[in-house]
Amino acid sequence: MAIDIKSPKEVEAMRAACQMAADTLLLVGETLRAGMTTEEINTLVHEDTLKKGGRPAPLNYRGFPKSVCTSINDVVCHGIPGPQVLKDGDIINVDITTIYGGFYGDTSATFYIGTPSAAARKVTEVARKSLELGIAEVREGARLGDIGAAIQEYVEGQGCSVVRDFVGHGIGRRFHEDPQVKHYGRRGSGDRLKTGMTFTIEPMVNLGRFEVAIDPDDKWTVTTVDGSLSAQFEHTVVVTKTGVEVLTKRPKPLRLSENVATIFA
Ligand code: MF3
Ligand code: CO
Ligand code: CO
Repeated sequence: MAIDIKSPKEVEAMRAACQMAADTLLLVGETLRAGMTTEEINTLVHEDTLKKGGRPAPLNYRGFPKSVCTSINDVVCHGIPGPQVLKDGDIINVDITTIYGGFYGDTSATFYIGTPSAAARKVTEVARKSLELGIAEVREGARLGDIGAAIQEYVEGQGCSVVRDFVGHGIGRRFHEDPQVKHYGRRGSGDRLKTGMTFTIEPMVNLGRFEVAIDPDDKWTVTTVDGSLSAQFEHTVVVTKTGVEVLTKRPKPLRLSENVATIFA
């Protein structure tokens, strides 16, 4: 299927939805603490989204039962909020998708609960940097494969691995549109980027091997097969005349994630 090109007006509407999601992610960072349950994160995201006039996209999406994905430690993505209690040393990815004004905004980050292990810091910071490097490839005329290659080269150079089974995606009036945005691949391959394309980049990075498995009981929770830690960051971006705009860019650093100086002190 062809890749949808958004008009400037549509990009403006996307920006509003994306900034709403980004603001809820900031609130999550302000609220997270050891002792909290992932159900409480779900309630926070759900209520904040409604308060802002948006809708939480995950709820009932293909049967997903909650309003946000919460993925702890060896959970790669699509963790379902519930009674699990956050404990010192955990890393948790919170993935927020908001529908507002007819458009979707999708963004996630991995947070440190208490004091992280060296392994937790490693996988989280490699994932964070890999997203930055992927975004840096985005410009009119670049190829999708350039994004994947930049991410894969860096992550594997750091001795970590890139998840293959889940990818970034076009986004707009629908949650998941064409194209698929792989976080691995070859430079110069894949579709050419054009101004007005909107998609996510959301590398899932494992400390060990890249293979993952889906929980056979809940059919959602994705974990690393080798039990190693996994981290992820996600932004929604638009290709612009001059390069790229990160539509889910935050106006300030995320508590418990981007303020690493205080976390690692
Ligand atoms: N937000 C996820 C993504 O980045 C998708 C979650 S689907 C859900 O694409 F159903 F689990 F919410
Ligand atoms: Co996404
Ligand atoms: Co997401």
